[in-house]
Formats: sequence, structure tokens, C-alpha cells
Amino acid sequence: MPQAMAIREKPRAATESKARSAPAALATVLVIHGPNLNLLGLREPEIYGRTRLGDIDRALKELGRDLGLKVETFQSNSEGAIVDRIQRARGRARALVINPGAYTHTSVAIRDAITACELATVEVHLSNVYAREPFRHHSTIAGIVVGRIMGFGAEGYLLALRAAKRMIETKQGAADA
Ligand code: DQA
Repeated sequence: MPQAMAIREKPRAATESKARSAPAALATVLVIHGPNLNLLGLREPEIYGRTRLGDIDRALKELGRDLGLKVETFQSNSEGAIVDRIQRARGRARALVINPGAYTHTSVAIRDAITACELATVEVHLSNVYAREPFRHHSTIAGIVVGRIMGFGAEGYLLALRAAKRMIETKQGAADA
């Protein structure tokens, strides 16, 4: 008779007692800014405002400290780099805040990456895209995110981080890594 394969349980006691004594790790929220958002403050300020991206990232990290979150920020003009960054967050970040910029309207790859990585997501836009050209009305990710914040300029990112905190607290966020 074929022998059943023995599945040995990992000895747990050591790691469990270590986990009990170590301070709880802060939940990580990844914030991604898509193409051309590196030019914030300079680019069409009448639409996107005068706040620079660096100032937004600093404000997010500061708010993250107040909320007890670790905030990681990333900007890229390249769709593939954004997909790679989302994949790196799989099992590590508890929530994603993303403004995919123009990729909002075109990218199936970014949508698939978010779904594949099971990241609870808040979609952010500085402008109210529905008050603009019709091609901006479609978002490839609208149907897979928890919620969307738009039209509040740079402040929208901070609102999104508060929403991410709430998602994590109410267990809408991805499970602990
Ligand atoms: C944007 C809106 C997009 O239509 C545009 O392509 C952007 C910025 C916003 O934040 O309002 O780059 O995502």
C-alpha cells in the first residue's frame, strides 16, 4: 500500500512567543502616483493645484504617523513599473491608495495587478473627472476598488489615507502578511 506522505507541522512555539513579545508592526499603506504626477504644482495648476508631489508625500507620511500607519509612496510614468510595484506589495501592504493618472482610463494591466494582489484600494483623483472631457469618465479600476475620492485636490490623498485606515480597522483591508 502506498504510504501516505507525512506532513510535518512546523514547530510553532518559538515563533509564537517571539510574536507575543515583539511590538506589533504598523500596517503598511502603499500610495501610488501615476504618469505626469511628478509635475504636480507645475502642470496645469488651474486643474491640479499648486501643491508639489513631494509635499503631498510628506503630508501623507506625517498623517500616517498620527494614524499609526506606515506609508510608502511611489511615482512612475511607466505602466509596467506601476504593475511591478503593486506586485511587490502583495502580502505586505494592507491597503493601496492609487491615482493612476491617465492610466486610469486605459490600463487593464493595473486593474489586473490590483485584483491579483488582493489589495483593498482607494482610487484618488485631484480633479473631478466627471466635470471634464468624456474620455476621463471611464475608469478601468472603478469596479474593483473599495471607494473613490475625487475633486478635492491634494487634500484627496489625505482623505484617502483616512479611508484606508478605516478599511484596515474594519477588516476590508488585505489580511496581515
Ligand atoms: C487625474 C485625472 C486624469 O484624467 C489625468 O490623466 C491625470 C490626473 C487626476 O488626478 O485628476 O493625470 O488622475
